[in-house]
Amino acid sequence: MSQTASPAGTADTVTLTDNRTGKTITMPVLHGSTGPDVIDIRKLYGETGFFTYDPGFTSTGSCESQITFIDGDQGILLHRGYPIEELAEHSDFMEVCYLLLHGELPNPKEKHDFTYTITRHTMVHEQLSNFFRGFRRDAHPMAIMCGVVGALSAFYHDSTDIEDPKQRMIASHRLIAKMPTIAAMAYKYSVGQPFIYPRNDLGYAENFLHMTFAVPCEEYKVNPIIAKAMDRIFILHADHEQNASTSTVRLAGSSGANPFACIAAGIASLWGPAHGGANEAVLKMLTEIGHKDRIPEFIKRAKDKNDSFRLMGFGHRVYKNYDPRAKVMQKTCQEVLSQLDIRDEPLLEIAVELERIALQDEYFVEKKLYPNVDFYSGIILKAIGFPTSMFTALFALARTAGWISQWKEMIEDPVQKIGRPRQLYTGATKRSYVPLDRRG
Ligand code: CMC
Repeated sequence: MSQTASPAGTADTVTLTDNRTGKTITMPVLHGSTGPDVIDIRKLYGETGFFTYDPGFTSTGSCESQITFIDGDQGILLHRGYPIEELAEHSDFMEVCYLLLHGELPNPKEKHDFTYTITRHTMVHEQLSNFFRGFRRDAHPMAIMCGVVGALSAFYHDSTDIEDPKQRMIASHRLIAKMPTIAAMAYKYSVGQPFIYPRNDLGYAENFLHMTFAVPCEEYKVNPIIAKAMDRIFILHADHEQNASTSTVRLAGSSGANPFACIAAGIASLWGPAHGGANEAVLKMLTEIGHKDRIPEFIKRAKDKNDSFRLMGFGHRVYKNYDPRAKVMQKTCQEVLSQLDIRDEPLLEIAVELERIALQDEYFVEKKLYPNVDFYSGIILKAIGFPTSMFTALFALARTAGWISQWKEMIEDPVQKIGRPRQLYTGATKRSYVPLDRRG
């Protein structure tokens, strides 16, 4: 096969030639508003009998989207056109949720109404508490989140009607609103403390911190510095284009599954250490390194092809430059630690030194491996008081805004079809069944 792009000035097509037969197919090239063009291969199989082969979807665009744009070479992340740095600095999570869902920043009334709506959906059905009691106390919060979020479909039947735009929006509000309550309940259950109900006088991040750390026997005042940092962490995790968990949500939803089930599927995908589970893995790695002197040993291991160890919080499928979220996260980390008067955080010292050494190392430079969003987030979350096991649950909480926006966009996309990839089959060809007594 050979492939030629049309020369400049001619129609935007790409012609593919089967060098064995000389047969050609001309396929349209589609242009986005920014970013690489894509070859529209939808007719490829019908006209040539070929599938494409792209494990890990490294060169495959699975959908058209207007939500998030990443330029991995430049280290740029835009939500609906707005740079992540500006959103993290000037916006808040409620606004970012609205932006992702609706496409524009809200005006003051829209923001007030949206915040009001989300706040009034934060309670979960009382019966849902019984689900938690079925788990072991030492269950991982992500295991609880997968189960309980999936179970929401059994409680909110009206919102499972995906054909009704109003119900789609209500489901979106319910998910964004109830995730902090569910995540906080998972934490409370693990430490054996009573669940704390949401409070409508508190902001989104504040309410989450209150449900997590308050106990009924005394008043708990949320530190505004921590609430602000929490809100920023939520913004930094809100969406990230067609990553593994988002693609999982879209694929699950493409069959017409209800949004609660789809988000539960996304949570399952996020849990892995190559994805959202990396924040937990980073803290474990920094703890295992234990001292700056041991960094070279771990760098050596990360470079060793025969060792499965990787530098967690480093590298990214799309970013071949510094992850812009990691920059904001590092700054936030230093601010939070200094505001909390935590002067010597050995893990931060190790992280900063590890980053310095890795960024000068030929292996990491050549492969363009930079710190990603997970590299510094765990240190802040630890300083706030979260156990390591909660880190990925917090990622899931924030990413729900992106997942549900992407799910909604997919459902409303007229070209959407059930997702059904093909394969390169290399197994046995047709053969006859051998009865048991004739198998050697
Ligand atoms: N440490 C050491 N080597 C690495 C690392 C790392 N963290 N990441 C990639 N490499 C090497 C890898 O061995 C490969 O080398 P070679 O070309 O010689 O075989 C090369 O770099 C390319 O790696 P890849 O695995 O083919 O790249 P990918 O795009 O499939 O994987 C990744 C991306 C994020 C899974 C990977 O970089 C990784 O495992 N990083 C550590 C886990 C992590 O921090 N994940 C969080 C990602 S950001 C948040 C999120 O998405 O949830």
